[in-house]
Amino acid sequence: MGKLDGKVALVTGGSRGIGKAIALAYAREGAKLFICARRATELRKTAKEIRSVGGVVRWCAADLSKVREVKRLVRQVVRDYGAIHVLVNNASILGPREPIVRYPLSSWEEVVKVNLTALFLVTREVLKIMIPQKEGSIINLSSGVGRVGKARWGAYAASKFGVEGFTQVLADEVRDCNIRVNAVNPGGTRTEMRAQAYPDEDPLTLPTPDEITGVFVYLASAESAGVSGKTFDARDWRQ
Ligand SMILES: NC(=O)c1ccc[n+]([C@@H]2O[C@H](COP(=O)([O-])OP(=O)(O)OC[C@H]3O[C@@H](n4cnc5c(N)ncnc54)[C@H](OP(=O)(O)O)[C@@H]3O)[C@@H](O)[C@H]2O)c1
Repeated sequence: MGKLDGKVALVTGGSRGIGKAIALAYAREGAKLFICARRATELRKTAKEIRSVGGVVRWCAADLSKVREVKRLVRQVVRDYGAIHVLVNNASILGPREPIVRYPLSSWEEVVKVNLTALFLVTREVLKIMIPQKEGSIINLSSGVGRVGKARWGAYAASKFGVEGFTQVLADEVRDCNIRVNAVNPGGTRTEMRAQAYPDEDPLTLPTPDEITGVFVYLASAESAGVSGKTFDARDWRQ
């Protein structure tokens, strides 16, 4: 018996890095997966990997900063599986590591659009399924700089502060609908985004995405019943 038997999980940005590790962990626990990202090639490879461990997965390429693509994505998940029990809002971009005084407006707008507005759009569509279903767990990927701001993290940090705020607002709104909403800071993890943010760092000093999935399984499963509006640190998390 898996901890997620019978559950349908949508993981955004599930093609690589932390999203891919969460999708694989969920598949091992018996969930049916739907993953999305912009690039089809990576999605196809990841879906193959998930199937190779016996997982059930569907995928679609979608740019979540576009309303039409978000609506199409959620329609497709419902068409394929008839329900969505778990939503992991993981897709994100880093943007330039520039001080505010030199931060380009176009980059600011793009980062906020992908990291915060797209998360709102996906969540709003998925809530239309979860509310009548009277069941759901929404897990939003935050960051350390979404809690304590640091120089040269610009729109990325501001958007992650937004994700923490969004989590609290929504948790309060859906408290009576049996829908839980929590935020997780993965902490420094060996991924492409981390390498882009810290090009001089030795990646071998960091945990791999597969090593930090425990809290994501906990929040998706019945073990976390009643836990909502909270913020977690994946690296320190022990049940
Ligand atoms: N790695 C860390 O150390 C770290 C630390 C703190 C927080 N986080 C957070 O953890 C999450 C995962 O990070 P990661 O390091 O795994 O990042 P990553 O390796 O860069 O993966 C990001 C994923 O998001 C997808 N994506 C980006 N823009 C998208 C868009 N517009 N529409 C749909 N999909 C999009 C990417 O696929 P495509 O490019 O094909 O679209 C990819 O699948 C993020 O929310 C990040 O902010 C990471």
